[in-house]
Amino acid sequence: MSLPSDFLWGFATASFQIEGATKQDGRGPSIWDTFCAVPGKIAHGANGDIACDSYNRTAEDIELLKKLGSKCYRFSLSWSRIIPLGGRNDPINQKGLDHYVKFVDDLLEAGITPFITLYHWDLPDELDKRYGGLLNRTEFPLDFENYARVVFKAIPKCKNWITFNEPWCSSILAYSTGFFAPGHTSDRKKSPIGDSSREPWIAGHNLLVAHGRAVKVYREEFKPNDKGQIGITLNGDYTYPWDPEDPADVEACNRKIEFAISWFADPIYFGKYPDSMLKQLGDRLPTFTDEERGLVQGSNDFYGMNHYTADYVKHKTGTAPEDDFLGNLETMSYNKAGDCIGPETQSFWLRPNPEGFRALINWLSKRYGYPPIYVTENGTSIKGENDLPKDDILKDGFRTKYFHDYAHALADAVSKDGCNVKGYMAWSLMDNFEWAEGYETRFGCCHVDYENGQVRTPKESAKKMKPLFDSLIAKS
Ligand code: NOJ
Repeated sequence: MSLPSDFLWGFATASFQIEGATKQDGRGPSIWDTFCAVPGKIAHGANGDIACDSYNRTAEDIELLKKLGSKCYRFSLSWSRIIPLGGRNDPINQKGLDHYVKFVDDLLEAGITPFITLYHWDLPDELDKRYGGLLNRTEFPLDFENYARVVFKAIPKCKNWITFNEPWCSSILAYSTGFFAPGHTSDRKKSPIGDSSREPWIAGHNLLVAHGRAVKVYREEFKPNDKGQIGITLNGDYTYPWDPEDPADVEACNRKIEFAISWFADPIYFGKYPDSMLKQLGDRLPTFTDEERGLVQGSNDFYGMNHYTADYVKHKTGTAPEDDFLGNLETMSYNKAGDCIGPETQSFWLRPNPEGFRALINWLSKRYGYPPIYVTENGTSIKGENDLPKDDILKDGFRTKYFHDYAHALADAVSKDGCNVKGYMAWSLMDNFEWAEGYETRFGCCHVDYENGQVRTPKESAKKMKPLFDSLIAKS
């Protein structure tokens, strides 16, 4: 057996992707509601109005988790359900808050350990309109701190907290490429901070400080006898050199991970941005004040790791363009020798490569001193899945193999390499709203029949998850 007996495994989701009920019980609009209404932003003009209707199906979802044997469940809270206008002087919506209090009670009653993400991209729209949302260095961290305090106070039974999910996406995809809400691009003429090319780096900085503020509140005001834990969840793709003989490509691999992961993890573990980023971005990267550094450094009880894929990386020569956020390099699915990183999926950015999972766990562990890691997401879409008849979708061979191979890579990272991974959450419990790709791309271990009563049916990968982890976890 390769994993310790107290190893947790389960499934993950996020509020906007599954809840629906966007106008129910006093919920205020989020930036994703607004973004979905912009023509051309989401495949087939989809939105989150109904999604999987999970807001009204909590009992059913918990039953499903129980049936699958899930030991834990990671889900996120909708900030605008709890504080519809979002700010620290705005009213709390008791109905929205009570919904989550009950949900946590019910999960615990079912023997399932909750992992709550405070922020999975659905900022209250009012905060974006009021002061530029994530771009406001003073207001955003303070409003997030207030929201976090409201939630910690209401849900003391939850002992596992994640402040932000993938802040790289909330910065780069939202403020550079414009693929995600609020959809700013780095060449916008008008910017609330006066220079659109700085927006992603400012957003990233403010997310870090907001994370630090929430952690401080949790530790000082709530952490019960050291039993609770709090951390942040970061993106995590692994990289291999396009030409392993070329030192510049080897170096570029490290740089790519630094631009995607260490951007956030270095300030948290070391109190500073990586040198590679400082070198390329100069003063476009904000400088930490002493107060900010004090909030951010040392602010992780655990490292939340999302991981899906790997790339081959080739360095670029010359100076990086102003809007470059990768670290002056190209990513590719084939290397110089013509090897392919992994098979295609429905997501252009995702090709399975389980070896990269083990390698990234090792990379993070070495750089950050073997912190406790929770894999807070791992999963795959499947090319053409949505066009298959339901019976074929349920057979789910591709996804079942993905999880088998990745779980074994994880077990090797723990038992052979000595990494401290404490838990694993598969993305996702069920098919759901896949952001700009709408409902076309399915990531669920359970199929959702959106047209016929939202019926959830476990695919083969969901059914195999318990036997898979049972075969890897030591019996107590
Ligand atoms: C990571 C994100 O956190 C999640 O919301 C998304 O659905 C998955 N990646 C798949 O793209």
